[in-house]
Amino acid sequence: MDSSIISVLTLAAYSIYFMLPAYLSNVSALTFGGGTPLDLGRSLKDGRRILGDGVTWRGTIIGPIVGTTIGTLQGIVAGDIIFGATLGLSLGGGAIIGDACGSFIKRRIKIERGRPAPIMDQLDFAVGALVFASLVVNIPFNMIILIIIITVFFHLGANIIAYLLGMKNVWY
Ligand code: CTP
Ligand code: MG
Repeated sequence: MDSSIISVLTLAAYSIYFMLPAYLSNVSALTFGGGTPLDLGRSLKDGRRILGDGVTWRGTIIGPIVGTTIGTLQGIVAGDIIFGATLGLSLGGGAIIGDACGSFIKRRIKIERGRPAPIMDQLDFAVGALVFASLVVNIPFNMIILIIIITVFFHLGANIIAYLLGMKNVWY
């Protein structure tokens, strides 16, 4: 195989491994989330919910815990537990914050909870994770681009599976 293809595939594999705390944080919020909404049902002056029923306390707490756990395991593999845990918390917590920011923006532009906001729905958590991870580690620009491309496909794939399992009402 062409060496440039191999280097892209290697970077893609590394990018997925790097993003695991963010991906699993997001998936665990989706799987184990639910219950009391983070905004406690409150609305802003525009008469719309601050975040909506899709952002819950349970998901918000579980996501960063899972991200930190995965990051710690990666830190053990790499030989630096503290760094791994810190990066895992940044990625896992950043993912949840990014997702909540996405919901906040959706409510402000009058998109109901669970209704689609293409591109933002796929990328809000990844952008949040990358922003917070950037505080801890330098992420090369080509890796950021690759992560964004991979995430769009992963997110759509995961949502279709969640829809088929009855965990989501829409496939996107
Ligand atoms: N979830 C959660 N807590 C979070 C994030 C997600 O409990 N902090 C769970 C909720 O059950 C939510 C589901 O994961 O319904 C899917 O998340 P997401 O697609 O981001 O929310 P939506 O329900 O689509 O709502 P929104 O329109 O605000 O994106
Ligand atoms: Mg959504």
